[in-house]
Amino acid sequence: MISVLNGPNLNRLGKREPEIYGTTTLEELEADCEAWARELGYTAVCHQSNFEGQLVEWIHRAGDEGFDGVVLNAGAYTHTSVALRDAISSITVPVIEVHISNVHARESFRHHSYIAPVCKGSIAGLGFLGYKLAIQYLSEKA
Ligand code: DQA
Repeated sequence: MISVLNGPNLNRLGKREPEIYGTTTLEELEADCEAWARELGYTAVCHQSNFEGQLVEWIHRAGDEGFDGVVLNAGAYTHTSVALRDAISSITVPVIEVHISNVHARESFRHHSYIAPVCKGSIAGLGFLGYKLAIQYLSEKA
């Protein structure tokens, strides 16, 4: 079982800054993640929240319930949240950081990630394909 977590403002995919994030909606992205996992013999459980604490709780749950891994697009909390970093550190299942856009090619405040050092790896700038690659990695390493 693979947990796919999307953070703040990602519920607005499709209408949010389409020149950066494209026109695919969160619902379509989640359906794709479910299909990609299924093709590999896994189940993707997808959630989105605009609330930091809710994301913390889903990370804990993935750890406590023996998930094979977490795909996490923490959105702007990537650049602000010690709480998310500590949540990732508190579990032993691998967490892959994903960003749709290339955060390193954008504003300097997006260049720092609080969570990158405690994630297994990070993917940025590959659009929705980043989620697919993260799911594939987790399925091969599980
Ligand atoms: C994002 C990049 C973040 O800097 C931004 O705050 C987001 C989306 C991405 O997927 O490219 O909300 O995580």
